[in-house]
Amino acid sequence: MKKYNTLLIDNSVKQLVIVKINRPEARNALTTELLIELADVLENVTENDALKAIVITGTEKVFAAGADLKEMAALDMIGVLEDIRPKIWKKIANFPKPIIAAVNGFALGGGCELVMHADIVIAGDNAQFGQPEINLGIIPGAGGTQRLIRTVGKALAMKMVLSGEFISAEEALSAGLVAEITIPELTLERAIALAKLIASKPPLAVKQAKEVLLKAFETHLDTGMQYERKAFTVLSGTEDRNEGIAAFFEKRKPVFKGR
Ligand code: CAA
Repeated sequence: MKKYNTLLIDNSVKQLVIVKINRPEARNALTTELLIELADVLENVTENDALKAIVITGTEKVFAAGADLKEMAALDMIGVLEDIRPKIWKKIANFPKPIIAAVNGFALGGGCELVMHADIVIAGDNAQFGQPEINLGIIPGAGGTQRLIRTVGKALAMKMVLSGEFISAEEALSAGLVAEITIPELTLERAIALAKLIASKPPLAVKQAKEVLLKAFETHLDTGMQYERKAFTVLSGTEDRNEGIAAFFEKRKPVFKGR
């Protein structure tokens, strides 16, 4: 994979791409360039059938400190109106393969919103999550109102967005923002282990599962159930489904082919 200015790409684990946000001098603030580079990585992974999932991480102290404030300060209202960033966030949201975030330290503003774009979040016990935009006279602009309230509920989302107070890894775990907490030294390792496990599963089922689960954010229950039933039905026609059931009865490991 090509080189990026703001991201370090690690291809050393089979079937995975590990993306490290690499702007430590600005606490991994998310410039437009960085988001474009991230979307480019996701596009490359989408097109490569050998790659099954992405792990995204930051440094030991900061996952990402939000939108780059120097860049943001330079935009007037028309600049914000015509900003390409919402389109890039949409690309990230539409990525069809699993994204596992390994979060140590601060995940603030756009950093917390990037966490919300991940499918599974593993947090170090030093992680802090927050939407401090209110301190800047603005509000979250990449899902920190809509995705956050759907993820953690009204009480906590209101508290975070209106007060700017951060929540701990423990609070994020009990609120459903993160899936697991580890010691910070093991956050990335655990995220990679989980991504490897998912990479070993039948890819068509993984893709359908992610797509249908995310529909729950946007649909009524009955419509969501229809999506689920359709995906379930489609998967019933795959070779991998027959292989999975056969391997169960033959007491062997299944060999999935993505068909
Ligand atoms: N944008 C640009 N630069 C940033 C930045 C950001 N979001 N966050 C930190 N930096 C820069 C600082 O300006 C500083 O630069 P200099 O060395 O040139 O002075 C450098 O990173 C180190 O910052 P600190 O000294 O503040 O580092 P710290 O370790 O003491 O604190 C921090 C870390 C708690 C993350 C703190 O930097 C911070 O609060 N950052 C801003 C967080 C924030 O307000 N995020 C919301 C952004 S708006 C947004 O994200 C909108 C949206 O919804 C998309």
